[in-house]
Amino acid sequence: MKLVFLVFVSIAVATKLPPNFKKCNRTEPDLEKCVLEAARDGLKQLTRTYKKIRLPNLEPLDVVELSARVETRLIHFSETLRNCKFWGLSRSVLEKFEFNLDEKVIKSQFIVPEVRTKCSYQIDGTIMSVPIRGKGNSSIIFKHFNVTLYVPYDEITKRNKTYGHVTSCEIDGKPESIHFQLDNLFNGDEEAGKRVNQLLNDNWSELYDDIKDDYLKMGKQMLIQLLNGFFSKLSLEEAFD
Ligand SMILES: *[C@@H]1O[C@H](CO)[C@@H](O)[C@H](O)[C@H]1NC(C)=O
Ligand SMILES: *[C@@H]1O[C@H](CO)[C@@H](O)[C@H](O)[C@H]1NC(C)=O
Ligand SMILES: *[C@@H]1O[C@H](CO)[C@@H](O)[C@H](O)[C@H]1NC(C)=O
Ligand SMILES: *[C@@H]1O[C@H](CO)[C@@H](O)[C@H](O)[C@H]1NC(C)=O
Ligand SMILES: *[C@@H]1O[C@H](CO)[C@@H](O)[C@H](O)[C@H]1NC(C)=O
Repeated sequence: MKLVFLVFVSIAVATKLPPNFKKCNRTEPDLEKCVLEAARDGLKQLTRTYKKIRLPNLEPLDVVELSARVETRLIHFSETLRNCKFWGLSRSVLEKFEFNLDEKVIKSQFIVPEVRTKCSYQIDGTIMSVPIRGKGNSSIIFKHFNVTLYVPYDEITKRNKTYGHVTSCEIDGKPESIHFQLDNLFNGDEEAGKRVNQLLNDNWSELYDDIKDDYLKMGKQMLIQLLNGFFSKLSLEEAFD
């Protein structure tokens, strides 16, 4: 599996948290509550890029390329998705967001009411033994995605400041529904294209369970890259009072 995620080039050195983001005092008794509120408040503001702290715009989130060769029980295909845009992530409802400085771990659970993605796709293989082949535009809509995250981090000291660094994380979750629309399957054969989209939509739950591990792996890579970008610019001393 290959993944190319949009990386922001930034030459700024250590920086401060922009003033529109809430800061918490690590010794305050209600730290947990403050961090949850700061995260909720910060997430809503990611409707533009914050280059200095390397946080991307989430509306939409641009992903240059995702490509995968998938071999599971039900799915055998190679797929390349390019110029993907994801909408809706900034409207995630954070039910839990814990930044545990002692255990060095971030734990979160959130609901994304709706994520819409558009990509140009190229696919070739079979799904439930039915051939699928084509290239064109695709749209996928996920509804009510309940996600849990567990992100342990290491601490790195640079110039007397402490920076987080993430090497692995755990993501789990399943949406309540997925709707697929792949345009131009089989070179524009409308009947065949309709049948395969129907197959995807009728069997989305089983297909999701089958492909989940592969796709969440991509989500993990993206998240790790995103967090490390942020952590590389903002020391923990600057993130917290
Ligand atoms: C595919 O989507 C892109 C971007 O939304 C659009 O510019 C292009 O016209 C679409 N192509 C087709 C064949 O619909
Ligand atoms: C989301 O998932 C978590 C963990 O599995 C669960 O505790 C929670 O009740 C779920 N929330 C909703 C609204 O489905
Ligand atoms: C790091 O902190 C120590 C102790 O506070 C101090 O003696 C040292 O000069 C600092 N080093 C740098 C590079 O700032
Ligand atoms: C899978 O999709 C096919 C074609 O749309 C449909 O006939 C079949 O009932 C679906 N299977 C399940 C388990 O829903
Ligand atoms: C953080 O809280 C502690 C204890 O309430 C206080 O002594 C300290 O001055 C606060 N730090 C900042 C930067 O506000």
